[in-house]
Amino acid sequence: MDLVRGKAPGSADFRFIDLFAGIGGMRLGFEAAGGSCVFTCEWDDRAQQTYRANFGDEPIAGDIRALDLEAIPAHDVLVAGFPCQPFSIAGVSKKNALGRPHGFACEAQGTLFFQVARILKRHRPIAFLLENVKHLERHDQGRTFQVIRDVLERELGYQVTYRVVDAQGYVPQHRERIFLVGFREKCDFDLNNVSFPDPATGPRLKSILHPEDGTEVMEPPYTESPLAKVSARYTLTDHLWKYLRDYKEKHREKGNGFGFSLVGAEDVARTLSARYYKDGSEILVSRGKGARPRRLTPRECARLMGFRRAAGKDWIIPVSDTQAYKQFGNAVVVPVVADIAKAMRPFVREAVMLGYAPVRAVLQALA
Ligand SMILES: C[S@@+](CC[C@H](N)C(=O)[O-])C[C@H]1O[C@@H](n2cnc3c(N)ncnc32)[C@H](O)[C@@H]1O
Repeated sequence: MDLVRGKAPGSADFRFIDLFAGIGGMRLGFEAAGGSCVFTCEWDDRAQQTYRANFGDEPIAGDIRALDLEAIPAHDVLVAGFPCQPFSIAGVSKKNALGRPHGFACEAQGTLFFQVARILKRHRPIAFLLENVKHLERHDQGRTFQVIRDVLERELGYQVTYRVVDAQGYVPQHRERIFLVGFREKCDFDLNNVSFPDPATGPRLKSILHPEDGTEVMEPPYTESPLAKVSARYTLTDHLWKYLRDYKEKHREKGNGFGFSLVGAEDVARTLSARYYKDGSEILVSRGKGARPRRLTPRECARLMGFRRAAGKDWIIPVSDTQAYKQFGNAVVVPVVADIAKAMRPFVREAVMLGYAPVRAVLQALA
């Protein structure tokens, strides 16, 4: 299967590859900055289904560990949100509880970063953007992050800057993620110089909730008549609502802050997780005193993560609610990536131009 595609070389600002692509949040951000995606790798069938529905019926490579490096086309930028499960606090404690190793010692997942390193080593793109959970920096008392930096900086020779960014300046969600940007050649790019909107003045939930007043076009199964109200299926059952309240009470008595979070139009949501489909407890929308709350609809989750297609078109959600919640919970907040990509673009473009043979010849002639 030919896995290479995208605009003809030279017609786009720069070419990038999308690894651990999920549903393509990184791709949306880099396309907004003028990039052309020439290769995608994502092994999950349902994520591939959503990716294709939104980007077109393009070839997508599967398991990254089985990839033939020669099948990857030349590219200027590599982007990858490598799986955070072995690095996240939840992932670590679950694995510890099971008496299993975690992080780099975990054979199944911990080596996925090294798949990225393998591709960087073979293709030497001008730059990369990697994304992970905030906790990556502290995992295993900082050793995991140190190994990652050593590989990127010392072994591969990239100039790396990194930063934790809270998406709350863009969307009504507190979501902190660590981003690492690397450049092959020494340059003035520093992620710490990129400005992001202030989380304190970010939008509130009313900007992403269904208005339920008839001003929005009805979208089954998410909204129903009359007035495009949120469908009853998103309201918690009596049983689940009682369970969540009892659970919270039990932990409150023990002095713990665990439990559901009830939010309204003027609030900001907690981080949407890939587990949201289970009970929705991290973000429950209040329906007024005494009424059972509801989950967000997948359409609201799309907005909460900044997912829209080009020209402001709605993101296509071709999968079940369960799959959609998992996909959005795993994704990046698109406008955060778009701003990072825009900041990287001039440095990438400069390197692309310098690498272009006729320009190099002129520069050499002038030297
Ligand atoms: C954290 S998610 C990335 C989400 C993405 N940034 C987005 O915006 O949708 C990591 C993705 O890596 C994929 N993945 C995990 N192991 C993989 C492997 N061995 N080969 C290819 N993809 C893999 C998962 O299916 C998941 O979609």
